[in-house]
Amino acid sequence: MTAARLANSIIIASGKGGVGKTWLSINLAHALINQKKRVLLFDGDLGFANVDTQLGLNPKWDLKSVFKKKCSFEEAISSYRPNNNHSSCVDIIAGHSMDGISMIIPERGIVKLRESLLTISPNYDHLILDLSAGLSQIIQEFTTFAQQCLVVVTEDTTSITDAIAFIKVMNFRNPDLPLHIIVNMAKSDKHGHQVYTSLVNGCAEFLNKIPPLVGIIHKDECVPESIKRKTSTLSRHPTSQAAQAIEKIALHFSEKTK
Ligand SMILES: Nc1ncnc2c1ncn2[C@@H]1O[C@H](COP(=O)(O)OP(=O)(O)OP(=O)(O)O)[C@@H](O)[C@H]1O
Ligand SMILES: [Mg+2]
Repeated sequence: MTAARLANSIIIASGKGGVGKTWLSINLAHALINQKKRVLLFDGDLGFANVDTQLGLNPKWDLKSVFKKKCSFEEAISSYRPNNNHSSCVDIIAGHSMDGISMIIPERGIVKLRESLLTISPNYDHLILDLSAGLSQIIQEFTTFAQQCLVVVTEDTTSITDAIAFIKVMNFRNPDLPLHIIVNMAKSDKHGHQVYTSLVNGCAEFLNKIPPLVGIIHKDECVPESIKRKTSTLSRHPTSQAAQAIEKIALHFSEKTK
């Protein structure tokens, strides 16, 4: 029997690492709360979690505490308020860099995670799941219960070939999982479209349905600058190309939860 998929959950994934998944997850969550949506950001990069690092948070509890039974899943929820004047905040389950523990999370741990996420999901309009790169067993498990998957790719040739490999495996294991593409760190819109075309051409022989392109984000100095300041780019540089592109991507997803 197929397990129930988590309503309005979006996995942020990639073939190659370092393409901007965590940054995108944080800023997408921020953009969605700007649109009055209730958002949970789950740091599922169980080996090298860094949502809390990018935001300078120091949560009392995190996923490791949950696995070690120091707190309940609900108690592990912390929050990020983009600034003091903001009327709402993003709820966060921080991941904690698990010192390699991710490799040995037993099957029942994943089942428990899925149950916990299912239990709290009615409290939210969107669940954003930031994952590690590649196709580890844990990622493949997550993709069986998420509702949508956003694949992030950059202009790097290896990023494109790894994204094609990722999509191929997803298509084989989870043909029902809707995929969406974001090109990040593009030199220009034109370059972004070229990356998307290369990706689509690489997938053509095994995919019947081509995943739509939902956004092109330029390489933007505002991104590392805001990470250095431990805040979202939407807070620090709201008029930057990167922030504006994320606002548009958020609209794409929030229209489905009106
Ligand atoms: N649009 C952008 N413009 C400039 N730099 C960017 C952009 N997006 C991300 N970066 C930079 O890329 C680096 C990696 O970002 P991030 O940690 O979010 O990637 P990741 O895909 O989550 O990595 P990992 O696979 O290790 O989890 C960061 O230092 C960030 O500053
Ligand atoms: Mg990351």
